[in-house]
Amino acid sequence: MKFLFSVVAACCVLFSFCLNENDSFIPGKPWKDTDGIHINAHGGGIVFMDGVYYWYGEHKTAGRGGNTAQEGVRCYSSKDLYNWKNEGIVLKVEKNPDSEITKGCIIERPKVIFNKKTRKYVMWFHLELKNQGYEAARAAVAISNTPKGPFKYIKSIRPNKGVWPINFDAKFKLAPANEEELKSWTPEWMTAVKNGMLVRRDFDMGQMSRDMTVYVDDDDKAYLIYSSEDNLTLHIAELSDDYLSFTGKWTRMEPAGHNEAPAIFKKDGIYYMITSGCTGWDPNAARSFRSKSIWGPWKSLGNPCIGKGASLTFHSQSTFILQVQGEKDQFIFMADRWKPDKPIDGTYVWLPIKFNKEKPVLKWYDKWDLDVFRKK
Ligand code: DGJ
Repeated sequence: MKFLFSVVAACCVLFSFCLNENDSFIPGKPWKDTDGIHINAHGGGIVFMDGVYYWYGEHKTAGRGGNTAQEGVRCYSSKDLYNWKNEGIVLKVEKNPDSEITKGCIIERPKVIFNKKTRKYVMWFHLELKNQGYEAARAAVAISNTPKGPFKYIKSIRPNKGVWPINFDAKFKLAPANEEELKSWTPEWMTAVKNGMLVRRDFDMGQMSRDMTVYVDDDDKAYLIYSSEDNLTLHIAELSDDYLSFTGKWTRMEPAGHNEAPAIFKKDGIYYMITSGCTGWDPNAARSFRSKSIWGPWKSLGNPCIGKGASLTFHSQSTFILQVQGEKDQFIFMADRWKPDKPIDGTYVWLPIKFNKEKPVLKWYDKWDLDVFRKK
């Protein structure tokens, strides 16, 4: 009997090996899809629908310009979070050189949410127009009837044109004299940024929107959270009921705090955000925040990472926080280990979020699975 059991167990291991099946997360290492190819969905985000997780991310290429959009946004599907099937490019770049999403533009950090009222899948992403570097700083939106696309490009926008944020001190609506003459990065300049100098600068044309995420709250209201004001300040902007535009209600978070890569989740009615600093493709120390309301005030909780590699977020940068479906308090921190010289080789760092009282904590695992959440 014992022998038979061992034979069956060995066959199962062999079978799953032949099927190329994963049964754990191995952060920072190449992660093969069900075809045996390294997953190509960088700066990604995940939506869950009818028992399936859909992971959307930037399709990167190997050569020069691999960080620009040569194909578009790729999608993978999975039922267990370990094994992912390639569902193809769901938002395609366009051939038309006049299109905002023409091949060679920059498409970053795509995030998809489902709108219960319209039954549509809505994708928001950071768009930079072709050959303009990171100057355009636009938020773009596309829509689909199904999670597997095709997503139809709708428009890009500089959010909240002509609208002041909530709680914005009336005295800061007019620029003080000689403000433009302040030297960048001096204490006076930093104070001016905190007091809304860059909000005023971009008031008529709309606020800059670079690194971003979207979040759907328990009441189905959705928010775009993005690095604005030359990446110095995060903005949180409420989306319209169809999730395709803005209501005009928005706030600033951590003015002059220099945060990128926002990722958000909610636990026991409290909102938590994990962000990075701004060092291009190089990693830096993550930051974490908590708030009772999406509108703040957000309290800084410091670096959530502990142990070796903590000061560089284990050589990665946040992109999304995934709640494991059907499980209370199981949150996965998703991050990218960028490879700017060969972007397609960028890897993924997924780690379980643990808590130390009110503070989210991330520690390194060479290998882990969802049972980690059941262990103390
Ligand atoms: C860091 C951002 O988080 C990435 O999404 C990308 O925009 C790089 N900067 C570009 O340097």
